[in-house]
Amino acid sequence: MTIATESVFQKNLFVGKSAVVTGGGSGICLGMATALARHGAHVTIVGRTQSKLDNAKRGIEAEVIGARILALAADVRDPSALAHVMEQANNAAGRIDFLICGAAGNFLCPAEQLSTNAFKTVIDIDLVGTFNTCKAGLEYLKKSQGSVINVTATLQYKGTPFMAHACAAKAGVDALTRVLALEWGKYGIRVNGIAPGPIDDTAGMDKLLPSGTKEFYQQTVPLKRMGRVRDIEFATLYLLSDAAQLVTGHIHVVDGGEWLAGPMN
Ligand code: HXC
Repeated sequence: MTIATESVFQKNLFVGKSAVVTGGGSGICLGMATALARHGAHVTIVGRTQSKLDNAKRGIEAEVIGARILALAADVRDPSALAHVMEQANNAAGRIDFLICGAAGNFLCPAEQLSTNAFKTVIDIDLVGTFNTCKAGLEYLKKSQGSVINVTATLQYKGTPFMAHACAAKAGVDALTRVLALEWGKYGIRVNGIAPGPIDDTAGMDKLLPSGTKEFYQQTVPLKRMGRVRDIEFATLYLLSDAAQLVTGHIHVVDGGEWLAGPMN
């Protein structure tokens, strides 16, 4: 199979639009932020560490001529910090059209060794952080009739050992996505999720997939390859574009069929 690298979307798709991307300093969400910038959007990337965000901003600006990027440090567990982020993003771009809620934390740990605080920490970042971000952006999205993408996962569909915290959090994110789609449809706001499967070129995957198992793992995927950040970028462009105008409350799985097949198909 030829692996697509170039966007099939028009370069000016999001000119005049503005996006806030939590977790945008690295990994999948940095790719999503970069893809939006490539297609003309003003992008505010949010993460906990300013120096990491500044590097990410420089990287996007080096790749995308004329990119307009704001890099703001905030913890998604802090609603007042997020309110400030939205205010600054709106001041910089004059509007906010898109929220990408991607900030997440994760580590492998058997449930019997997981402390209550460790469990709660991941719930607080992944689930409560997504709720906080959606709430903080709501008033701006009402004005723009904007759109939300919550970044979720596939590991919660069947349950994944050593991931009690992340599975619980992402199951909650999926439920939250559907409820917000129902409640905010009246404002013209669409709320969807993207569930990446294993993505090859990310630190998260290095952390979670045991070394030396990649080749075997790929063969268990019906489409015989792991995902790339680029695959998630394409899904993002689609879901935020008018091509998905009637799509809301949908969790868009991008995994080559991996979770459906299971590890021993
Ligand atoms: C067991 C752990 C642990 C580990 C932390 N804890 N790491 N327990 N195993 N490896 C426990 C701590 O001991 C503490 O509990 C509690 O968790 C909180 O830890 P802190 O370090 O104080 O929390 P914090 O600084 O907020 O860090 C959050 C974090 C951290 C989630 C724990 O790993 C983090 O910030 N990660 C962000 C980067 C990241 O993980 N990126 C990968 C995302 S990939 P006690 O009881 O001691 O107080 C991703 C993809 C998911 O999410 C999909 C995969 C397919």
